[in-house]
Amino acid sequence: MEFINKLKAKAKENKKRIVLPEGLEERTLQAADIIVSEDFADVILIGNPAKIAEEAARLGLKNLDKATIVDPENHEKKEVYIDLLVELRKKKGLTKEQAEKLVVQPLYLSTLMIKNGDADGEVAGAENATGDVLRPAFQVVKTLPGISVVSGAFIMIFPDDEFGDNGMMVFADCAVHPNPTASELAEIAVTTGKTTKSIAGIEPRIAMLSFSTKGSAKHEMVDKVVEATKLAKEMAPELKIDGELQADAAIIEAIGSKKAPGSEIAGKANVLVFPTLEVGNIAYKLVQRMGHAEAIGPVLQGMAAPINDLSRGCSVSDIVNLVAITANQAAGNM
Ligand code: ACO
Repeated sequence: MEFINKLKAKAKENKKRIVLPEGLEERTLQAADIIVSEDFADVILIGNPAKIAEEAARLGLKNLDKATIVDPENHEKKEVYIDLLVELRKKKGLTKEQAEKLVVQPLYLSTLMIKNGDADGEVAGAENATGDVLRPAFQVVKTLPGISVVSGAFIMIFPDDEFGDNGMMVFADCAVHPNPTASELAEIAVTTGKTTKSIAGIEPRIAMLSFSTKGSAKHEMVDKVVEATKLAKEMAPELKIDGELQADAAIIEAIGSKKAPGSEIAGKANVLVFPTLEVGNIAYKLVQRMGHAEAIGPVLQGMAAPINDLSRGCSVSDIVNLVAITANQAAGNM
């Protein structure tokens, strides 16, 4: 795929260290083998080295000697990471004993490696639930300055170019924050605008979605989206954004011009911001399966370092693609 090939080429120019904490997971090992052979990122696998070697042999993988393997039970920086974790969580009352138990967990270890400058980004989630991947990331790596909420965007690539920009759109939040307030939703819209520009490489035209278009329905859920639209415009006056819009008014020109005349977004949106995670997660999965769109992500936005989460149903190429995105984020290309 053209989009991903460009990302891999760009990542190769300034190779970054991407940690894969699920180092014994089959698809992760297969993906790691591809990444090191294509050489667009330096891979760090977390896991018992003997078990990784055994799995690699069973799977017939030939390139994993090019990956770095970190044994969570036994490595030279264990004490450093224990102290770092105690320091980071001291306000929460974390004891040294508790930290000792956490640092051997690959999902904590990987975030501590990033925080300590020993890795540049992380991809996980092939075998762990989203919440378990995100919690250590929130606690250790935390959010970017000025950002309070991390959210997850999907780059949706459609089989034809009817929607978005040449068939490319961005959906958010589809992965992280269950029920954002109006100001959190505004922040999600603004960060998604940035992701759209930097990762998808298109100029964002953002629709704030609801079940109402420009006052057609009255409800507190609609009020939240109206307020979020206003706040997002204040936060980023340069952004092209409008709401509240129904999905058809956002993406179909004839309906947009009828329901929201004069809007520069209605009928032309290439970014859809959903009012809750429930809607966003269901919508992207339906569009992916029923609309036969490719869904790349979730790309986590707002985290202080690039950490991206996979769906447990992911394929080997999903992992390879997300590592390409993460490596580009780490290199500051996006
Ligand atoms: N952004 C930034 N920080 C956050 C966020 C957020 N969205 N949510 C929680 N945090 C922080 C909290 O401030 C807290 O920090 P602190 O410990 O330093 O005070 C820490 O994370 C833990 O907060 P909790 O409220 O205890 O978090 P909890 O673990 O209950 O929930 C989580 C966070 C795991 C992200 C939760 O919101 C969740 O499970 N979300 C849904 C994820 C999911 O299942 N997505 C669908 C599948 S993804 C897919 O299909 C591709």
